[in-house]
Amino acid sequence: GAALLNFEIRPTANPTPETERAAKLSNLGFGQVFTDHMAVVRYSTAKGWHSARVESRAAFALDPATAVLHYAQEIFEGLKAYKRDDGGVNLFRPDANARRFWNSAERMAMAPLPEHVFIEAVEQLVRIDHDWIPGGEGSLYLRPFMIANEVFLGVKPSAEYIFAVIASPVGSYFKGGPAPVSIWVSENFTRAAIGGTGAVKCGGNYAASLRAQAEAIEHSCDQVVFLDALERRYVEELGGMNIFFVFDDGSLLTPPLGTILPGITRDSIIKLAREAGREVREDTYSIEQWRADAASGKLKEAFACGTAAVISPIGKVRSPHGDFQINGGAAGPVATGLRKQLVDIQYGRAADPHEWIRKV
Ligand code: COI
Repeated sequence: GAALLNFEIRPTANPTPETERAAKLSNLGFGQVFTDHMAVVRYSTAKGWHSARVESRAAFALDPATAVLHYAQEIFEGLKAYKRDDGGVNLFRPDANARRFWNSAERMAMAPLPEHVFIEAVEQLVRIDHDWIPGGEGSLYLRPFMIANEVFLGVKPSAEYIFAVIASPVGSYFKGGPAPVSIWVSENFTRAAIGGTGAVKCGGNYAASLRAQAEAIEHSCDQVVFLDALERRYVEELGGMNIFFVFDDGSLLTPPLGTILPGITRDSIIKLAREAGREVREDTYSIEQWRADAASGKLKEAFACGTAAVISPIGKVRSPHGDFQINGGAAGPVATGLRKQLVDIQYGRAADPHEWIRKV
């Protein structure tokens, strides 16, 4: 049974030479550099979860009729390992990622992975690839994912799955680093509808965002923001991150859960802001209201948040109906303060009263 899964550790015979690794770590963007190992666990309806391994990072051999290649039964997660000043390593809320992964699997009719196996796989990979965790403000981005591995073209839930974790040392997600980002309002495309898959982390949601994201880039914007699919008015989320608004009375607002991805950074920010005495509403906010509040000065700041993006201020909004700026296009104190508070917890520089940190 899953409770007895033991990871077999097979260190690579060809580790990256130290000088090469150091060179790679000295110039990090997002998701381009990978570590030497991966964790892999297999599933079949007959055997359950089995063959848990940490092994050399390598290509998968997939039959051309493998289910994931046709019907996109695929889910993933994103979390980070942070190097503390004392040399130790912190994971941030891996239990929350494990739970969301379980929910994603259920929605996509995939075999749910026991949460302790998810966490064990992540920890084993962090341990073996410890030397790949960047110092300073970098981190090791962990990418757990699961694919349908049955060789069958019938449209039905796969009877076989591969769960794997890979790791990528990262710097900033956006090229401009902590500088404010610009956002394109998509009027042609939506991301998620009621009853759809918007609330889970399946690859298909991100595939569906790419055409809209391409429009954002055509308009010189960093990210797309989607409106709701029903009324095409209410702000939902960006291509790959959640969004917050900050008002002149010090309160915050973020779109409610339902069709959006329930971000772990989003949840952490809600808790931190409320504990600091701020009112945080999870409520709808229309693009018209956003534009009006930016013009009147009622809106002080807006920011994007996610594991990859951390907290990134939004300086400019562009849409077919005209552009507007927030806080004169500059980073504001609330986003900057919350970002510092969050990363100080993540790197172990601040107390952790919520027990969000898991030391590896
Ligand atoms: C995240 O890890 O923050 C994501 O949502 C995935 C992607 C935007 C890199």
